[in-house]
Order: sequence, then C-alpha cells, then structure tokens
Amino acid sequence: MYDHSLIQQDRQHWVHPVVQLREHEQRGATVWAAAEGIYLIDNNGKRVQDAFSGLWCVNAGYGQQSLIDAATRQLQKLPYGTGYFHFANEPAIRLASRLARLAPKGLSRVLFGQGGSDAVDTAVRVVRYFFNATGRPEKKHFIGLQRGYHGSSSTGSGLTALPAFHRYFDVPAAQQHHIPSPYAYRHIDGPDAAAVLESTVAALEAKVEEIGAERVAAFICEPIQGSGGVIVPPPGFLRAMRDACDRLGILLIVDEVITGFGRTGKLFACEHENVSPDIMTVAKGLTSGYVPMSATLVSEDVYQAMADAGSEGEVFGHGQTYAGHPVSAAVANAALDLYVEGGLVENGAAVGRYFLEQLKTLEELPHVGEVRGMGMLAAIELVADKSSKVRPPKGQQLGQRVLACAMEEGLVFRAFNDDILGFAPSLNYTRADVDSMMEILRFSLNKAVAENY
Ligand SMILES: Cc1ncc(COP(=O)(O)O)c(C=O)c1O
Repeated sequence: MYDHSLIQQDRQHWVHPVVQLREHEQRGATVWAAAEGIYLIDNNGKRVQDAFSGLWCVNAGYGQQSLIDAATRQLQKLPYGTGYFHFANEPAIRLASRLARLAPKGLSRVLFGQGGSDAVDTAVRVVRYFFNATGRPEKKHFIGLQRGYHGSSSTGSGLTALPAFHRYFDVPAAQQHHIPSPYAYRHIDGPDAAAVLESTVAALEAKVEEIGAERVAAFICEPIQGSGGVIVPPPGFLRAMRDACDRLGILLIVDEVITGFGRTGKLFACEHENVSPDIMTVAKGLTSGYVPMSATLVSEDVYQAMADAGSEGEVFGHGQTYAGHPVSAAVANAALDLYVEGGLVENGAAVGRYFLEQLKTLEELPHVGEVRGMGMLAAIELVADKSSKVRPPKGQQLGQRVLACAMEEGLVFRAFNDDILGFAPSLNYTRADVDSMMEILRFSLNKAVAENY
C-alpha cells in the first residue's frame, strides 16, 4: 500500500533540488522503493523502465552484484580511512593509479571528492592555486558556455549558465563569463557544423581579448552539454577548443561528470577527439551512482607547479573528510572492472548506435524538431512547428506531459525546460530494452500531442 505519511513527511521536511517548491508541496513525491536491472520500482510496486540511469549516473544498471559485494567487503574491512595528511587506503590508491592510466594522456594526478559539484569546485581552486603559485595572480577569469552545467556549488553555479541556478543566488560572479553554446540546431550559424565551430572559437577569442589574456585563467566545457538539453557540439569541437586555449595561453577544463565512463561510447568523451585537457572532472558513472564519489584529474604540469609551490611546512590546504573514501573507491574499482574488462563500454557503444538509429525514426513525427545524441546519451527537441522551430507554448507543458504519459505506461526519462526530452539509458541495455523503450515513447509522444491539437 502507498504510504501517505511518507509523502507527507517529504512534503514537510525535504527540500528537493530543481522543483518549484510550492508545486512539489502540492504534487508530493514519487518514492522509489527498489530497483533491479534497468527497472525502478515505486512505493506502489509499479515497475518503470529507467531510460535515464537515475540521474545519468547508474551507468552499469541496478543490482550489479560485484558492486554490492565490493561495498560490503570494504564496509567490513575498513569502512572509513582518511586521506588527509600522509594517510591512505588501498582501494583509493589503486583507483587513482587506474584513473591516471585510463584517462587522456597527461592527466596523471587525482584529487578525490564526493560529487560533480565539489569536483568542479576543486578544479577552480586548483586553477587559482596554479596561477598564484606560478607568479600569474592576475589570471582569475573563467569562461564557460551558455547552457553549460557545472554543478551548484557557490562557485560552480556561476560557471553553470542555466537561469534557475543563477536567479536569487548572486551568480555569476564578475570573473565568470559565458560564450554562445555550439548548439547547431538553434545557432545563428547553424546547422552548418564548420560555421558553428568557427564562430565558437571566434567567440572565445573575442571574450579573451575583451577581458585581456593576462587576466583569463581557464575555459570550461562539457564535451556534450547535458543539463542544458543534451547539446551535441559539431565533431571537432573539443579539439578546436583545446587548440584555441593553447593559442590563448589559458587552461582547458573538461567536465566529464556526465560523459565519463562509457556514456558516449568511449570511456571518456575526450577520446573521440584525442584531446587531453589540463583538468578533467568526473563523478556519477565513476561508481555507477551506487555511492558518492568524484575525482578531479590534473595534468602533471599543473601538479608539478602546485608541488613546487609549497615550501617547507606549507601544506596544500584543500580536501574533504570523505575524499578518497575506501568504500566509494572499492565500488569505483569494481565499476571500472565492469566498464573496461567486463565490456560494458563496448556494449553501450554498440547498443547506443541502435538506440540513436531508433530514436531518429521519431523525427518523422510532426512535433519532433530534432533527435540528437552520442552513445547512450540523447535528446528529443519538441517544437510547435518544424520549419520555424518555434517551441511549443509554455503553458502546454508538452515535454512534461509526454513524460507523465510515459511514466503511466512504465517508462521514465527526463523532461527539461524548453520541451527537450533527455535520455541516458544504462550501458547494460539490450536492443530489446531499446525496443520496449521506443514503444512507450512513441505512444506517449503521439498521445500528448493528440491531447493538444
Ligand atoms: C557536467 C556536470 N558537472 C557537474 C555536475 C554536478 O554534479 P553533482 O550533481 O554530483 O554535484 C553535473 C551534474 O549533473 C554535471 O552534469
């Protein structure tokens, strides 16, 4: 039976992220009670196929016994061990060296954290430390992309460029800037890929010139903009930004919090273009979302400058109690076993091709403006009119209604603002799982549109 008192307690006490708070009080929570494979089960016992991997994090799917065993064993053996001072633990040491081996070339040093937001915060602190330590303290400005998402820490939320994360929060700060997103579908130069790339590079160059190169520290971007609406930049984007950052003398931070760990068909999205950032942030899929953990990988050059900075007795004053947590690290090691040796990344790449092929067939529907994606990451952008690309009227809440209908039929994904639907199935999906997803999705799209017109 549905536990009304639980819903009531939630209403009264839990302040949820990214809801209109009064609306949530009215609606009440959907309470997930259990999960298995690619399914979530709610408090009523209703089973729903998860096409979003929780919050694009459960990359290995639910109920992976090796992850559960790794956590259990580690909880029994050493449930906590600090990484502060000169202390360490075996799972975190092994994980750091494994990440350094698997990550894009040159990212050889790892700072651990708990989630994507603090990984980005760490990246910002490291950049400041690096420039101060190397005698360039005036390099303080950060440039990101419009529609970018880099978490909701007091610093990262200003690098984020989504209005809800700024409104009433006094960000972005004066040292945080944004240039247009390489959003080909709606770009002024779109959809021509080369023109979008060229204009993105030109926008970065112009912004650096406006601020003054000697004052700009870094450019930060996601390889595919996730929370901004799964915006897939034209091929060559990361390479172009790497080259531009080198020319401009600024650092490149790539935020792979969503795209890491097989999401786009390779272990890291940077691999598609053979790009090595100066700093890379990861979280989510690192532990397949089973326990919290993130990592900020930094290049050997950045690390060496940091290490040279502290003279005797001057410690590197950054860290968190749970950084390098042994249970999280044990789960991350087990997740890497599944991704790399267990073939999950490969499966995600193969099924991802089928998934996108199938999703693309929805472009024949009158209100599907664009289907875009890479690997197991995709979006459907809904429009009122395909030729003008005009969005559906706000009041219709078309995206939300497609989701509500799909939930009733047994499928969950994400409905973003702007009537964009987001998909991030786990890497263990089969073609049959894609087929069952498609059946509900097509039905729900047709139903929600039919109710309107
Ligand atoms: C690209 C990116 N960076 C950072 C974050 C923040 O991660 P977390 O929610 O774990 O703090 C997210 C979360 O979705 C993200 O997508």
